[in-house]
Amino acid sequence: MHKTDDERRNGQIVRVLSELAMSVQQVGSPSVVRLGFGPFELNVAERSLKKANRNIPLGGRAYDILIALLENAGETVSKAELIAKVWPDVTVEEGGLRVHLSALRKALGDGQFGDKYIANIQGHGYRFIAPVTRLPAERDRDSASAGLSNLPPALGRMVGRDDVVPEIRSWLRTGQRLITVLGAGGMGKTTVALAVARQASADFSGAAFFVDLSAVSDKEQVIGAVASAIGLDLRFADPEKALLDFLRPRRALIILDSCEHLIKKTAEIADTVLQNASGIHMLATSREALQVAGERVLRLRPLDCPPEQPGLTASQVLAYPAAQLFVERVSARGGDCSLSDDEAPIVAEICRKLDGIALAIELAAGRAAIFGVRNTVARLGSRLDLLKFGRRTANPRHQTLKATLDWSHDHLSEVERVVLRRVAIFVVHFTLEAAFAAVWEEGIGECEIADAVRSLVDKSLVIASNKFRKTFYRLLDTTRSYALEKLAVSGEHHSIAMRHANFSIQLLENKQDQYLRFAARGSSSGVAPRPSRKHPSRAGVELWSRRKRPHGPEIGGRSFSAVSGDVASFGM
Ligand SMILES: Nc1ncnc2c1ncn2[C@@H]1O[C@H](COP(=O)(O)OP(=O)(O)OP(=O)(O)O)[C@@H](O)[C@H]1O
Ligand SMILES: [Mg+2]
Repeated sequence: MHKTDDERRNGQIVRVLSELAMSVQQVGSPSVVRLGFGPFELNVAERSLKKANRNIPLGGRAYDILIALLENAGETVSKAELIAKVWPDVTVEEGGLRVHLSALRKALGDGQFGDKYIANIQGHGYRFIAPVTRLPAERDRDSASAGLSNLPPALGRMVGRDDVVPEIRSWLRTGQRLITVLGAGGMGKTTVALAVARQASADFSGAAFFVDLSAVSDKEQVIGAVASAIGLDLRFADPEKALLDFLRPRRALIILDSCEHLIKKTAEIADTVLQNASGIHMLATSREALQVAGERVLRLRPLDCPPEQPGLTASQVLAYPAAQLFVERVSARGGDCSLSDDEAPIVAEICRKLDGIALAIELAAGRAAIFGVRNTVARLGSRLDLLKFGRRTANPRHQTLKATLDWSHDHLSEVERVVLRRVAIFVVHFTLEAAFAAVWEEGIGECEIADAVRSLVDKSLVIASNKFRKTFYRLLDTTRSYALEKLAVSGEHHSIAMRHANFSIQLLENKQDQYLRFAARGSSSGVAPRPSRKHPSRAGVELWSRRKRPHGPEIGGRSFSAVSGDVASFGM
């Protein structure tokens, strides 16, 4: 049965559309039926060609040739193929093809003013050589239209963050165009960014896009990931130019989620967009800042935890977001959702031990739903258990704490890895001098160590705080547990523990007078807390020393008794 011309044309359109629709489905973006090249816009469904919003008249055959060339843009289409596509059921001479092709070229102004669209490949056929961009459908061109967003639906209630979300929104409203939500793995950065985007999308007429960079491993694919999220086909175009051309006239909010592993490339793109597309606002989430001019950083704090205070009741504990999250996740897993006053302090302890990290609390809640809170708090003492608490339903990076920390660790330099595992020997705070003493080795001098510590701070693996005009560093407990595992595996634990002990003693010998003043003042100084006999740092020194000298412990030839008691953790 012979197809009519219209049926054939429709078939062709369906092919183009179905291909476009497939990519659309993959990215969840709006339907796309427009292609752009040079100043032209081709509406595939309407069979119309526009230049600067003016209709360009084009005959049916010329239009079919254009479609056939665009379908294979960048590749040579032989004359025979073109004829077969445009006149599938009739025999047509090459002369006929040339006539319509020349009409098409005339309509495009091909070759005029340096614009070149169709190349004649001698002896082979024709090739469409200009970059082609897939454009959203006409009805979606104006970002004011609804339904443009590809934000994933919220899967549950966001706990806390009542201060952070409005703050970021207000920054967006006052013209801040690049905001980075910074924080350690699992802290809740993506959760916050999505909450902001859902609330702020109305300010962008619904044009809010989520770019999941965690799924991208190659920096060359970052632009492609952004383009996919906003529904732009870059197949035949110069990616960066096409992206900027597309974004320049638009107003939208773009979430760049999980930038840390592609930080340089993402920073470059964000910078270019900032400079070239004034209507585009970006909200990045990362464990490390982009460090682009114009970036505003919000360091996400852990969820607030109940304080260490005897006799806290269930309702007092549940006033804190960390405890709310824990209890909600326990009940979501089918566990007992009522918190008794008896168990409240245990839940408070779990939250504190997990540093208020949302992901860690969720993982612990999963365990508590099965084994109970008492059992869970007991297991938190074990580093291995803590890192292995798991769930299968999350993305791989969030299935265990170990996996989320691996994600950061995998992207560290070798020196950063050495520094991270060695500074894990410090139980509480450490100074740069302490890090030098614990980490130093041939080839890793003070400069390298200082740089690495700062870089670990940038990457949210080490926390820095200033007190008394001095910078103190520390690891979150979960990070420390992870790094201690690495230290044990490296076989360096013993030697680093010795350095730690030696450093402690040396420090105390040098600063005995100063220490005694601090000790007399007690922990209220905030610098030299009076550690208890249980203090792990002190216990470590003591244990090590006893093992060495059961009848009179010495470290490095010095009597342990000379530095006994709480002195062992001074400065740490
Ligand atoms: N405020 C919150 N309320 C409820 N759940 C939360 C909250 N914050 C985080 N979560 C949950 O904790 C887990 C980790 O959160 P999220 O993915 O936002 O962390 P992240 O900081 O983006 O982690 P990553 O650094 O790995 O990207 C998720 O399962 C999320 O649902
Ligand atoms: Mg995230």
